[in-house]
Amino acid sequence: CRSNDAIDKNEVITNTIAYVQNALEGEGTGHDWWHIDRVTKLTKKIAEKENANMFICIMAALLHDIADEKLNESEKIGIKKVRSWLASQSVDHEATEQIMDIITSISFKGGNGLQLNSVEAKVVQDADRLDAIGAIGIARCFVYSGATSSPIHDPFIKPREHMTKEEYRHNKSTAINHFYEKLLKLKDLMNTETGKQLAIERHRFMEMFLDEFYEEWEGRR
Ligand code: ADP
Ligand code: NI
Repeated sequence: CRSNDAIDKNEVITNTIAYVQNALEGEGTGHDWWHIDRVTKLTKKIAEKENANMFICIMAALLHDIADEKLNESEKIGIKKVRSWLASQSVDHEATEQIMDIITSISFKGGNGLQLNSVEAKVVQDADRLDAIGAIGIARCFVYSGATSSPIHDPFIKPREHMTKEEYRHNKSTAINHFYEKLLKLKDLMNTETGKQLAIERHRFMEMFLDEFYEEWEGRR
């Protein structure tokens, strides 16, 4: 028996899945529904091991890219959109603030490097980062590069951190450089023990991929 005003969490999750699927239909920037689906699966797995609040984690994972500036006129409008969705589902004030805190601290460029307030935020950020590495991460990297007309590789284009401001402005980076600029760094940025464990294999796979890539690039294999 539950009180009248307690929401049915499973129903809210089911409704939110449909809402997000609909909102991300045709998304081509690497934030398609299947990214959300994978991140939600990883979130469940990590949340269980880390004893995090499952409802908060799942909701934040499902909604984490909805407020992204790529999908909205601005971040502000995106955040409003997520808030009104939670209100429409009668999610209470405390849970709403927890979910919004996760979304705003992990999904924005400005949020990178921000101190995370809750174990739930750490879980969802780890899940999102795991989807950027390993075989899936490699695939997403090349899709993004293709979509932005960046080359696969160019030995004369340095990783961004080694570019001068002028080079940075004029040069597109490359898919291979993105490994050094971001993907190979993610393993050491994991927040949770479970995230760290899951990152090891995925990281190793990327290193193997790069070894093979350079062998083939030089015509040695
Ligand atoms: P998210 O918001 O999911 O953390 P991003 O929007 O930064 O990720 O990127 C989406 C996907 O595109 C990720 O897999 C990321 O690694 C990839 N990506 C982002 N920037 C680049 C880039 N400059 N070159 C290649 N891949 C990129
Ligand atoms: Ni994401």
